Amino acid sequence: MQNNNSELSLNLNVRGMPLSATLHINELSNKLKQQGKKVYKFGLGQSPFPVPKPVVEELRANAFQKDYLEVKGLKPLREAVADYHSRRNEIECSADNVLIGPGSKELMFLLQFVYYGELVIPTPSWVSYAPQAKIIGRQIAWIKTKEENKWCLLPEELHKICETDNYKPRIVILNYPSNPTGVTYTCEELQELADVARRHRVILLSDEIYGELNFKGDHCSIARFYPEGTIISGGISKWCGAGGWRLGTFTFPDSLSGLLEGMAAAASETFTSTSAPIQFAAIKAFRGGIEIERYLWNARKILKTLGIQIHNILLSNGIESPEPDGAFYLFINFGNYSDKLKSKNILTSLDLTTNLLENTGVALLPGGVFGRPEEEFTARLSYVDFDGTRALAAAETTRPEDPLPVGFINTYCSPLIEGTRAIVDWVKSL
Ligand SMILES: Cc1ncc(COP(=O)(O)O)c(C=O)c1O
Repeated sequence: MQNNNSELSLNLNVRGMPLSATLHINELSNKLKQQGKKVYKFGLGQSPFPVPKPVVEELRANAFQKDYLEVKGLKPLREAVADYHSRRNEIECSADNVLIGPGSKELMFLLQFVYYGELVIPTPSWVSYAPQAKIIGRQIAWIKTKEENKWCLLPEELHKICETDNYKPRIVILNYPSNPTGVTYTCEELQELADVARRHRVILLSDEIYGELNFKGDHCSIARFYPEGTIISGGISKWCGAGGWRLGTFTFPDSLSGLLEGMAAAASETFTSTSAPIQFAAIKAFRGGIEIERYLWNARKILKTLGIQIHNILLSNGIESPEPDGAFYLFINFGNYSDKLKSKNILTSLDLTTNLLENTGVALLPGGVFGRPEEEFTARLSYVDFDGTRALAAAETTRPEDPLPVGFINTYCSPLIEGTRAIVDWVKSL
């Protein structure tokens, strides 16, 4: 057979779209590691902890499940998700309000595909919202939040963008605790945002994938204050350490059931249904229980202690970020070093992270990929580069009400402390 590739013309719909920045930095870090260089992988946003044992056991017991399941998801799982939201978020819902998919990322894509509207994204924001909108061809409206407000969206900022055209169909994304800032909203702040959202009749996509990793364990959902317009996005990827299992959940109010049906129709022609054994195992995760609660207490305790320790080291050396409330991210600002950086011809957040990686082996993600201006010296530091299984086992020997012993972080999370010191040494040496 003749191989004449030059005649093939690929009319790609996603021409010029690069690989997701998170995956890109991970691959680059792996490459440096293979060359024998020490790399601190502070770019990746994956839980360091194992999947809780009872959930793993359920998966094992259900490995034989082989049938395609209902497009919307297994009924007992949808019931467990609805019960979870009724219990945790004081929201009235039933299995009929829930849609299960292979990751919340896929469900977000389907939502934008099915709903013809503008996507409003407060920045800094997670890296995949905007590329999804671009693939589908939806308009994006960015709201640049301010550092002095801990990068949180203010009600007046939301109002300002909505009043430009009151009748425009819109989906507004809110993500809390936030990737990339680790900051969350108080109930009062959510109430105020909900009032604005209701006034302008926008659909809120409330991305609460890190809700259970709120350090105080008291995550509050905006759906409490604007139930009729809020879709809650969740899943087991972050709090249950099961990113690779690929299971996400959307919970809709009755008033948006048309969207759920539309997404289910699109799902039936694309992924059909989410992996059967995973759905059976996820029932256990959403039903919870004392073992899962204990796992979460300890996970939160480790992340909180670690996040605050790194934050303090950086802050005392002039690298600023808001103190984190949850998840495993800090959004750090090297603005105090901008003159020194510029004198070394480091002019963008990408220049900054590339130079840092080359000189210290510390991989951060540049602020630019989270929708921040290229010339702003911001970056996301994710603090998951440690052996989570070992750290969790050690934390389990402490009592829930006690803090972790002094020296715990240095013993179990040492790469984070070493890498943080390397960042400080590097900026000081500029
Ligand atoms: C803010 C945010 N939303 C959604 C997702 C997607 O999660 P899932 O694994 O459910 O697709 C991620 C994953 O990194 C995330 O950080």
